[in-house]
Amino acid sequence: MTRLETALNDMKTPHTIAIVNQKGGVGKTTTTINLAAALSMRGKKVLLVDIDPQGNASTGLGIPRAGRESSIYDILVDGANLMDVAIKTDVPGLMLVPSDIDLAAAELEIGNAAGRTTRLREALTQAQTGEGTATDTGRWDYILIDCPPSLSILTVNALAASDSVIVPLQCEFYALEGLSQLLQTVEMAKANINPNLIIEGVMLTMFDGRNRLSGQVAADVRKHLGRAVFDTVIPRNVRIAEAPSFAKPVMMYDPDCAGSLAYMALADELLARHSRRKSAH
Ligand SMILES: Nc1ncnc2c1ncn2[C@@H]1O[C@H](COP(=O)(O)OP(=O)(O)OP(=O)(O)O)[C@@H](O)[C@H]1O
Ligand SMILES: [Mg+2]
Repeated sequence: MTRLETALNDMKTPHTIAIVNQKGGVGKTTTTINLAAALSMRGKKVLLVDIDPQGNASTGLGIPRAGRESSIYDILVDGANLMDVAIKTDVPGLMLVPSDIDLAAAELEIGNAAGRTTRLREALTQAQTGEGTATDTGRWDYILIDCPPSLSILTVNALAASDSVIVPLQCEFYALEGLSQLLQTVEMAKANINPNLIIEGVMLTMFDGRNRLSGQVAADVRKHLGRAVFDTVIPRNVRIAEAPSFAKPVMMYDPDCAGSLAYMALADELLARHSRRKSAH
């Protein structure tokens, strides 16, 4: 590939990744926030879309409920322009589309409406083409979508809008339970609305080196899923759990802790994969 081709490739549309697992509490939000921040720290322009009514990613990035003038709800239900909803965060290069508890009702409100599964995709495409009133135009290198713990219409909107999916798996006994249902949903999205969707990878998290079960689960997952599993494993680390209460990604809270190093390594692994994939084309 020539230098010009590489440069043109770099300029093309962003890579959009949905962080998905219908199981609750497996580390989706933690991964979305910290991977987004790590990619920003590597110089990428990143947008985090919080599509979970719980709004944990929005709170974790320091946007209190009261400070959310508009949210993903306005985009999905009222057709608001994404550029009017996206806000800057304290992390340089990282913007956020916040969520709100109203979103819980969105599922019912957009239930049978036309184009109900592709509303987020349309909003992102529109933002990329530069329409909208925000001064900071919407050209991101990466868009990360934090999904709710369900395979609802919200998650389907995320799958329709994404190039790939990251599945966090907690290193505990039931880690693989529900995975086949999740993979079926991804296949369904692929067949019906998004033929190019791929599984970016399965990511092991909350790994506890002192706990034998953690090691066994990790080995088991690697045996079953092989190369689909990221090399990087996120350890169970108290600093990771503490950081959201200081409204910061872990790298801004304690840059040298094991959790920060792991999320930086995950971002580097992802970037290396993408540059390999690009040069293979
Ligand atoms: N690597 C880690 N080490 C320690 N604690 C962690 C780690 N990752 C996540 N946690 C904690 O585990 C809990 C669940 O994590 P998180 O909110 O990211 O999961 P989730 O999948 O987004 O949950 P939900 O399904 O409710 O959206 C949180 O309290 C979080 O701080
Ligand atoms: Mg979450």
